[in-house]
Amino acid sequence: MSKESTPRRFKLFIICSMAAISGLLFGYDTGVISGAILFIRQEFHLTTLVEELIISMVSLGAMLGAITGGPISDRVGRKVVVLGSAAIFVVSAICLSLAPNPTTIIVWRFIVGYAIGVSSTTAPLYISELAPYTLRGSLVTLQQLFITIGILIAYIAGLLLAKFAGWREMFALAAIPAALQFFVMLFFPESPRWLTIRGYEARAKDILERYRGSREDAEKEVDFIVSKMKSVEPSWRELFSSRFGPALLAGVGLTVIQQVTGINTVIYYAPTIFKLAGFASDKAAILATTWVGVVNVLATFIAVFFFDKIGRKPLLVIGLGGMVVALGVLGAGFLPIFASPAFETAAHISIASMIFYVACFAFSLGPGGWLINSEIYPTQIRGKAMGFATCANWITNFIVTATFLNLINLLGKAGTFWLYGILGVFGIVFILRRIPETNNKTLEEIQDYWNN
Ligand code: BGC
Repeated sequence: MSKESTPRRFKLFIICSMAAISGLLFGYDTGVISGAILFIRQEFHLTTLVEELIISMVSLGAMLGAITGGPISDRVGRKVVVLGSAAIFVVSAICLSLAPNPTTIIVWRFIVGYAIGVSSTTAPLYISELAPYTLRGSLVTLQQLFITIGILIAYIAGLLLAKFAGWREMFALAAIPAALQFFVMLFFPESPRWLTIRGYEARAKDILERYRGSREDAEKEVDFIVSKMKSVEPSWRELFSSRFGPALLAGVGLTVIQQVTGINTVIYYAPTIFKLAGFASDKAAILATTWVGVVNVLATFIAVFFFDKIGRKPLLVIGLGGMVVALGVLGAGFLPIFASPAFETAAHISIASMIFYVACFAFSLGPGGWLINSEIYPTQIRGKAMGFATCANWITNFIVTATFLNLINLLGKAGTFWLYGILGVFGIVFILRRIPETNNKTLEEIQDYWNN
């Protein structure tokens, strides 16, 4: 249990929430396009190719942002990079809302994606490096909580603004949280761990003193980081060596499992799936999708409260186990024998299992993927490795969502969801065998785990 005093916890909570606004923008900007594209399509008479480009540009930008964001934050600091990405979010929200043609939209969607990639790599690092180890799970999970809130706001904005085809307003809305993050974070400290690695130990001690309570604790922590630090920053090639390989495999593996178990087929295609499951009207399907968004937010609180209490691995395994069961039932609900009107309840079971699936993701793989990646890497590779894992996350996201409709044609609806379920079973084995328990350990103790 945490020994942090309440005012200090509160201060940390505010700082980490401001950093986690990056998550809100991540969720909002990825979610908003499903509503906005309907009206952009109408206004500019898009061809299929241009429409696909507008939708997929964010993923491409995010891949580039992730792979470059980590090393940049190693060089110039975590806070500077979060500030930079907030500035890009503001500018791109304004430019997108004023876009005169589809080409401008494509370019700025790529730039938004770049900012998402950069900040989804850096914000969790910033939080995990500032947080005391007893609160690290909850505080890093704020990032995922904000992603889910961002997705929900995007669904709701889509519903409300649809009445007057307000795609420009949908894009513009993102400028508000981004500007807030930029101005507030100007007054926040740099990551003390990054300062230590860069040789600014005195500044790191001053900052930590404010967030740990005593000068003595702050000095102990900085001295400990220094004693564990290897001065040479490894090259990209060394990242794959036997020294760092196991940590990288664990982090990348988890981030890939987060995606191949199909979460974004639900997040991006929920209305389509609801219609496949028997919902009659578009409106009912979109409303049900909003409920998916609400459950996604609410279930994330389970992780906020329990990651630091019962540990990361139990929640990951229970959640992924629940997802596998839900996928099994969801798939079965689509079998032809249940297709007749006599089996109306089967449609309801499918819907319930989809909601259960999202809830299980929200307290396990959703936050866990980002949390474990922000804490398992040795100090000297943290930025690069996190960037690499985040890039793998976006590539897998892209492949899974781009192949979803084709897979349904190839394997059928049941086969497609069962395939995600089978990959989930492999995921459980991987988590049990490859992921270390990081609860209640300092980042240095986790580093020692790999050295041993
Ligand atoms: C994933 C996203 C997903 C979101 C859903 C995040 O952890 O990285 O791909 O859309 O969770 O809540």
